Amino acid sequence: MIIAVDGPAASGKGTIARALARHYALPHLDTGLLYRAVGQALLAAGGDLDDEAAALAACAFDDALLADPALRSEAAGAAASKVSAHPLVRAALVQRQRDFANQPGGAVLDGRDIGTVIAPDADVKLFVKATPTVRARRRHTEMSRAGSTMSFDRILADIRERDRRDMMRATAPLRQADDALVLDTSFLDVNAAIHRAIDLVERKRAA
Ligand code: CDP
Ligand code: CDP
Repeated sequence: MIIAVDGPAASGKGTIARALARHYALPHLDTGLLYRAVGQALLAAGGDLDDEAAALAACAFDDALLADPALRSEAAGAAASKVSAHPLVRAALVQRQRDFANQPGGAVLDGRDIGTVIAPDADVKLFVKATPTVRARRRHTEMSRAGSTMSFDRILADIRERDRRDMMRATAPLRQADDALVLDTSFLDVNAAIHRAIDLVERKRAA
């Protein structure tokens, strides 16, 4: 069983994907981390995020980088959003993601284009969403706990900017697949969202 989980920043897709992977004993890939690693590797090499050739070279990052906690920062998310718009970067990372999706037994992947590009034949596609205000509040809570003093307004502006860039890019933009099941988590806490996700997967499997 391949489960594709897509959605915008802080919609809760990562939390849901991890929970589904645990529930169904499937391996999980957070594909956003790959783009975050490319952005980080490029910046570490002194490159320019708008330089497609340099971004392509950064796709050969060392896998040890995936464990770097710095990849979780909002700055790394913004850098990821810029390098991920380059078609050559997306092309360089497609096979790795498809191989993960197609491993025997199945997998859960979360990102922006899993249901549309990486695994268009996924057994279940979830599109997780929440209002920008709710998503910014979540990120703000998360970041405040981690010691950040970034304001709510700044985080909201960053989220809107990243949404815009991810939805407007020409290659593999963030969009709901035609056959995706929508899960709006705006008014759901983590537990309720996970229960709803499992329920959606079960209904889809029964259908
Ligand atoms: O992966 P994505 O950026 O979409 O979001 P996440 O990392 O799963 O969730 C972002 C934050 O929102 C985390 O701190 C979650 O615990 C929280 N969250 C929430 O408060 N309510 C939900 N229904 C889902 C996530
Ligand atoms: O957790 P959050 O949604 O904030 O970020 P993420 O999933 O780690 O993704 C970071 C950035 O990588 C996104 O803003 C997208 O621009 C890009 N990305 C993508 O283009 N395609 C994916 N499958 C996953 C992430």
